[in-house]
Amino acid sequence: MNIVEMRGITKRFGTLVANDKVDIDLGRGEIHALLGENGAGKSTLMKILYGLYQPDEVTITIEGRTQPIRSPAEAIERGVGFVSQHFSLVPTFTVAENILLGYEQQFRLDPAQMHTRVAQLATDNGFNIDPSAIVGKLSVGQQQRVEILKAIFRDCRVLILDEPTAVLTPRDTQSLFEILLKLCAQGLAVIIITHKLEEALQHSQRVTVLRHGKVVGSQETSSTTSAELARLMVGRQTTPVQRPANANASEPVVLEVSGLSVADKRGVHALNAVNFQVRAGEIVGIAGVAGNGQSELVSVLTGMLQPQRGAMRVDGQAVAFGDPRACTRHKIGRIPEDRLRGVIGDLSVADNLMIEQLDQFTIVGHLQPHAILEHAQRLINDFQIKAAPNDPVRTLSGGNIQKVILARTLAQDPAVVIAAQPTRGVDIGATEYVHQKLLEQKQRGAAILLISEDLDEILLLSDRILVMYNGRLVGEFDAAAVDLDRLSLLMTGAEKTG
Ligand SMILES: Nc1ncnc2c1ncn2[C@@H]1O[C@H](COP(=O)(O)OP(=O)(O)OP(=O)(O)O)[C@@H](O)[C@H]1O
Ligand SMILES: [Mg+2]
Repeated sequence: MNIVEMRGITKRFGTLVANDKVDIDLGRGEIHALLGENGAGKSTLMKILYGLYQPDEVTITIEGRTQPIRSPAEAIERGVGFVSQHFSLVPTFTVAENILLGYEQQFRLDPAQMHTRVAQLATDNGFNIDPSAIVGKLSVGQQQRVEILKAIFRDCRVLILDEPTAVLTPRDTQSLFEILLKLCAQGLAVIIITHKLEEALQHSQRVTVLRHGKVVGSQETSSTTSAELARLMVGRQTTPVQRPANANASEPVVLEVSGLSVADKRGVHALNAVNFQVRAGEIVGIAGVAGNGQSELVSVLTGMLQPQRGAMRVDGQAVAFGDPRACTRHKIGRIPEDRLRGVIGDLSVADNLMIEQLDQFTIVGHLQPHAILEHAQRLINDFQIKAAPNDPVRTLSGGNIQKVILARTLAQDPAVVIAAQPTRGVDIGATEYVHQKLLEQKQRGAAILLISEDLDEILLLSDRILVMYNGRLVGEFDAAAVDLDRLSLLMTGAEKTG
């Protein structure tokens, strides 16, 4: 028997049809993967099931009961839990406090009892979590487990996870699926949104693909392949980009970083004497497991963090640290790790596209609306952004926000591009697109630093690969001759080099 049956779900935002007569069923104890390109309507559909959006036409049946869901409170009451990409935990509270938030009235538990109940629930379900830990101090993977625990605590029978692995390391991803498997064995039904096809193939029993708001396929996972899923999602055959010939070693050095060190408050080195160079027309990839200093490196190079030691030069000129405007002056283009910090959500697409070049769109203190609109229209066309110039950026899907950032950065013909996790949460079609754009910049002669947790991406695009471990660069490979075993060992710190 199905635990959830959604029938004829239609949701419009103005003239846009985000969900178009969608039917989807969820079986008890199954993991159901929901796939689709950016903007296909996946999150919208799940927000409807969780009562966050009211559909225009709908019937939803949960455990045999057909009744509209008018709010998240009603969804929770019907046994639906939702872990969105942006966690809703209170960072200054403990794990137990977060889990019980809003429930104290019903339970009237004293802190000790609270603690015991949460601890019990955690052990029962194989979560390795300390109920008295402060949430803000936990890793992203642990925080996600707290969110799941919170849903379980409210007796959820249907758990929705919106791109849960986009922010996880491979290891955390593994333990997430181990936990889900246990929960499913007890009858929990899981809907998981993901852009990683391998993940869907490996862990789900059923898979449903949305395209332009419509269901284009729904089947047993065992009867499909990644090629078929990709074709269903994109509507055409996909082809990964081809890397052009390696950069010429006689090209001039554009970006030079030397002796970069960053210590955290406890004096532990997040970055330790980091040196490297990137030549014109070269892509240098930084490979490494998340949390080994990559974020700090990006923050320093993009003017967001002041290092204790070190220097940075672009075309031989020293760049001042801790000043984002110095980056703009030295033509350092930035594609930030967290795309929501790269844009201002309430501003329009047009405004976000010109915000780094305000001077060029201002004449004697007045913004030039006509020029701003024209500029936006041109970039929207060139970069195939699915949006109108006046749309607030927050209403765009994840992949389209990424295109806005890419368009803004690359349209300025940067000398250096710092690309951090440029395809995180981005669908296959858009990923190919981002890769294509980075390669065009390389051909044009930009020096590109690519920081990515996706090793396949690093291998696909880089001319040279540097391995980061524990704040240090511990190895270097020519991309044409990578020893993958050795690379993996270096990434886990298992092999020491001088
Ligand atoms: N609150 C909103 N107001 C206006 N338009 C919206 C709103 N929420 C979503 N949309 C639009 O609905 C469409 C579907 O968006 P949705 O977020 O469901 O896509 P998605 O499949 O989850 O994409 P992604 O993989 O990028 O997260 C998009 O075109 C988006 O711009
Ligand atoms: Mg989404």
